[in-house]
Amino acid sequence: MKEITDVKEAGLAAIERSNDLNELTQVRNEYLSKKGLVASLMSGMKDLDASLRPAFGALINDCKEELEKALKQKQEALTLVALQEKMAKDWIDISLPATKFPVGNLHPLTLVQQEIEDIFRSMGYRVVEGPEVELDLYNFERANIPADHPARDMQDTFYVDSKWLLRTHTTAIQTRTLEKSADSLPIKVVCPGKVYRRDDDDATHSHQFTQIEGLVVGENITLADLKGTLQLLAKSMFGEQRIIRFRPSYFQFTEPSVEVDVSCHICNGKGCNVCKGSGWIEILGAGMVHPHVLDMAGIDGTKYTGFAFGLGVERVAMLKYGIDDIRHCYTNDARFLSLFKRFE
Ligand code: PHE
Repeated sequence: MKEITDVKEAGLAAIERSNDLNELTQVRNEYLSKKGLVASLMSGMKDLDASLRPAFGALINDCKEELEKALKQKQEALTLVALQEKMAKDWIDISLPATKFPVGNLHPLTLVQQEIEDIFRSMGYRVVEGPEVELDLYNFERANIPADHPARDMQDTFYVDSKWLLRTHTTAIQTRTLEKSADSLPIKVVCPGKVYRRDDDDATHSHQFTQIEGLVVGENITLADLKGTLQLLAKSMFGEQRIIRFRPSYFQFTEPSVEVDVSCHICNGKGCNVCKGSGWIEILGAGMVHPHVLDMAGIDGTKYTGFAFGLGVERVAMLKYGIDDIRHCYTNDARFLSLFKRFE
């Protein structure tokens, strides 16, 4: 009996001394586990005289209950202390400024291309793309530029072999579209894409650049439709005050052909260094689709007419954002690219 009281006292003292939950678990194991001190006292009961067993049993149960109670209380107290310590250590100052994550933005060429696509989508055009490695057939032949024609020299070409080349203009997408849609007129498409020419790179030239061409074919399509369409494009891109003018020009695949100027958006047509004093800026080539181009694609050129236009995306981006060197568009200097955040 004395032994039981000693174990109880020692156990209670050990519980009291525990400084953390780990120590407390060790005490529990020492006293209350299957092979612990209380269990081994209990196993001594069988050696006792029967008359002594009830008192012995009651004492042991009391010892066990007291220890369990003390353990539970101590456990709660230690858990609370642990929580308070953790809270004191892990505080955050929610008034501190947040870390800024760098966020990317669209490339100026993408911005211009998307803007132009959106303008034409709003007028019911489809956006169509095509291969950059193109057949001579679609890039030249079907655009009314036959082999050995001097017009080919104007677009110095990267040839892959005698049949294949890197397309020199997005007109190749148009000749493909004409052939594909010959039986499902009218056609209303814009065709964006990369094009390639053997140019020496400098501030205004690049061997790879981006074009967007537009093509409309149907009945009773006239030069006046072309003019109205391009007028709307100019106003949307460069401001409501812009006007356009047509100058006669020459392309193999359009007849008549025109060069299109927009009144300068910097000086409002008065003359400045951007428009080189003329008040006008040349932005695109256009014309009525040559009847022979329609015929070659299997479209009756006596019944249907159409217009086409093509512009350089880099040129428009340079004018719109005041970029002074086309090479900025390709070198991916993050400082340059981040300037276009405000244009989104
Ligand atoms: N394909 C011409 C070029 O690359 C542009 C153009 C397109 C002209 C459509 C007229 C009509 O220079």
